[in-house]
Order: sequence, then structure tokens, then C-alpha cells
Amino acid sequence: MAKRQSLHGEWSSRWAFILAATGSAVGLGNIWKFPYITGENGGGAFVLVYLLCIALVGIPIMIAEIMLGRLGRRSPINTMRHLVREARANPRWQYLGWLGVVAGFLILSYYSVIAGWAMAYFFRVASGMFDGADADQVTAAFDGLLASPEVLLAWHTIFMLMTMLVVARGVRAGLEAAVRLLMPLLFVLLAVMVGYAMSTGVFMDGVRFLFEPDFSRLSGTSVLVAMGHAFFTLSLGMGAIMIYGSYLPQNASIAQAGFWIAGADTLVALMAGLAIFPIVFANGLEPGAGPGLIFVTLPIAFGNMPAGTLFGALFFLLLVFAAWSSAISLIEPAVTHLVEDHGQSRIQACVKAGLATWLLGIGTVLSFNWWADIKVFGKTFFDALDFLTANIMLPLGGLFIAIFAGWVLSRRDSERELGGDHLGYRLWHFTVRYVSPLAVFVVFLRSIEVI
Ligand code: PFF
Repeated sequence: MAKRQSLHGEWSSRWAFILAATGSAVGLGNIWKFPYITGENGGGAFVLVYLLCIALVGIPIMIAEIMLGRLGRRSPINTMRHLVREARANPRWQYLGWLGVVAGFLILSYYSVIAGWAMAYFFRVASGMFDGADADQVTAAFDGLLASPEVLLAWHTIFMLMTMLVVARGVRAGLEAAVRLLMPLLFVLLAVMVGYAMSTGVFMDGVRFLFEPDFSRLSGTSVLVAMGHAFFTLSLGMGAIMIYGSYLPQNASIAQAGFWIAGADTLVALMAGLAIFPIVFANGLEPGAGPGLIFVTLPIAFGNMPAGTLFGALFFLLLVFAAWSSAISLIEPAVTHLVEDHGQSRIQACVKAGLATWLLGIGTVLSFNWWADIKVFGKTFFDALDFLTANIMLPLGGLFIAIFAGWVLSRRDSERELGGDHLGYRLWHFTVRYVSPLAVFVVFLRSIEVI
């Protein structure tokens, strides 16, 4: 296979890639979504299935996706186009690239609205609005935010602008510079939060909730949600990791990078759980409160603890940073596609992709107020988008990535990219051929009856 150069630049080193991919993986998924879906799905057993999905499906597919990206060195659409041609495979495989570009665009449209909540809460907490607040006041404040489409729209607009600004600056000056600053800060802030949770006196309640499995609380949908979340949290199945992989220098070890990224991502999710649940229990709050979990429960804690304004503001700042470095990777596949196939400059591509995403996001904004009663299959616009992307499109994308890497791509190519025919390689090859596709397939089958 001929060696290609990326048209959009390269990371300055292997570490820059790991940092950027970790920045993509660690986001609202870890700090907002993981705790609330864990709460909704009963805790320990759900966490166990999620961890199994990370190990058996997530990591092997992460390695496969980075590898395909580095082999193709183009937008996910063109990467698949090249790889399909070189493997003389069915041209329909190209749709895999499209599936990713569309999924990223759909996810960012609602991701940006939720990131907007986090921005609003940074200012709310910092202003001392929750000092001494009780559950009713905090709930009313959250409901008030959701009921104001103008406010939600304003924050969504600001977040989209921030995102497109970074993406417009390109691989090194934009993406790499941003994550270099954001990622280390995020770890420090999260560690501070876990430290606070340890001081609540009910830290162990949180630990038990997260790690003691009660399988009677696990439904078919829970398993699908756990698997969908494994893809979502690792940014897999939609070309984000593929496009980041396409900027990876040729001499970097893909498998090692995959383990680092998945490890860091899982660590952050578990740390977020350990920070949040003790606070939830210490205040007699409800773990299954849904998407508002951290916005309804945490401000109560922050409003009633010493230096709560400072800790609270730091926490939401952290959430905004984490969301920002993920958002840039959600739109990068669409932007590179516009640059490569429609002759646009990076700036033009950013304006177009950003505008389209912003427009679609208005649907999510309205689904919390004016359109709250309009339901498709019993779901609001936001719920439906979240379900469709995280639980269907990403696992489907991941399934096809595994099949492509395991069955269609020549063994010679994958062997060369992954450093030769050693035990680790064989284990990976077996997993992407059999274990990962079968696992995704079985979970899909199990959930058909519950959808
Ligand atoms: N992994 C991100 C999170 O956990 O918040 C979300 C995400 C980013 C999903 C990029 C998919 C993606 F391609």
C-alpha cells in the first residue's frame, strides 16, 4: 500500500496525539452522561457491563480505527474510499465514512446545547446564586434554564463559536494547542473534586453504588445503553478517532496509544462517579434523576459546603473544557470532508459545518421547552437524537470498522501498521474478527425486543 501524507498536517508527536484523542474521549460523556445513566440503570451491574464493553469492544475497535485513519490519511469518507479501492472491496464500504460524518454532526448539535448548560452553570455557581440553596430552589433554577429557549440558544451559539474557532485554526495551532492546555487542568480539577467527596463521610456509599453489581437491575436496554456509552465515551464509531489517527506520525505505536486513551477515559469517568455519587448520597438526593443529575444535585452540595462557590465554579469550568476538546473532534471529519471534496478552505468549511450544526441544535434547544410534548417513539427530539446516535449509529459504525479491519483489510497491512505478527497482534486480530462484532451483534439482538 502506497504511503500517503495527510493534507491537513500532523501531530507534533505521539504524545500530542494521545493528548488530543484523550481530549476527544474525555468529555460530557464522562462527567455528565456516565453518572446519570449509571444512576438511571442501577449502578454496579451497569458499570461492570460498561467496563466489559470498553475492554472487549472499545479498545480493539479504538486500535482498528486509529489504524484505518493512519493508513488512509484523509477524511473518514476518503480514507474509506482509498482503503476500499486498495483492498478491492465492495464500494459500499465507503458509506461507513459517511455514517461517521453524519453521526458527528448529529451528536455535536445536541452536545453543544448541553455544554451550554455547563457554561451557564459556571456563571451561576460563581455568582453565588446557590449559596445556602435547598433542593426546591435548585430544581426550580434548572427548570428555569430549560424553560428559556433564548438563554439556551445564546449559550449554544457561544459554544459553537468557541468550537469552530479552534477547528478553524487547524491541527497544530488549533486542536493541539487547545488540548495541551485543557487536559492537564482537567485532571487536577477532578482530583480536587474526588478529594472533597472523600470528606463527605459517605464516600463508601458512592463506591458501593458504583462497584457492587446488582444484576436484577440490569435490563436489555441497560446493556444496550452501556455498550452505546462505551462507544460514545471513547469517541468511537464515527471517524473522530479515525481522523485524529490520520494525523499520527508513522513511527508511533498505535496499540500503546489506544490503551492510554481508553485507560485515561475510564479513569476520568470513574473519578467523576466517585466525585458525584457521594455528594448525591450525602444530601439524600436521587441518583436516577436523569440528564439533569449533576445540574440539580451538585449545586445543592456546592451551595452548602465550605468554599462551595469556588469548588462549584471549578467543576463546571472543567466540564466546559472537557466538552470543548471533544466538540472539536466531532466536527473535524465533516470539515476535512468539505476541504477535500468540495474545494473549500478550512475557514469556509468551518463556517458551513458550524452553521448547519448550530441550526440543528435549535431542535434540541426547543425539545426542552416549546417542543417538550412532541415525541417520536415516546422520545423528545433530544432523547431521540441521543438514542439514535449513541445507541445505534456509533455501535453500527464500530461493528463495521471491526469487520473491515479484521476481514477486509489485508493481514499484511494491519500487521505492518501494528508492529508485526506478535502475540498482542494476534489477540487483537482475533478480537476484531470474532469477539467485538459478535458482542455488538448480540447486544443489538437483545435490545430489539426492548426498543
Ligand atoms: N467522547 C465524548 C464524550 O465522552 O463526551 C463524546 C464524543 C466525542 C463522541 C467525539 C463521539 C465523538 F466522535
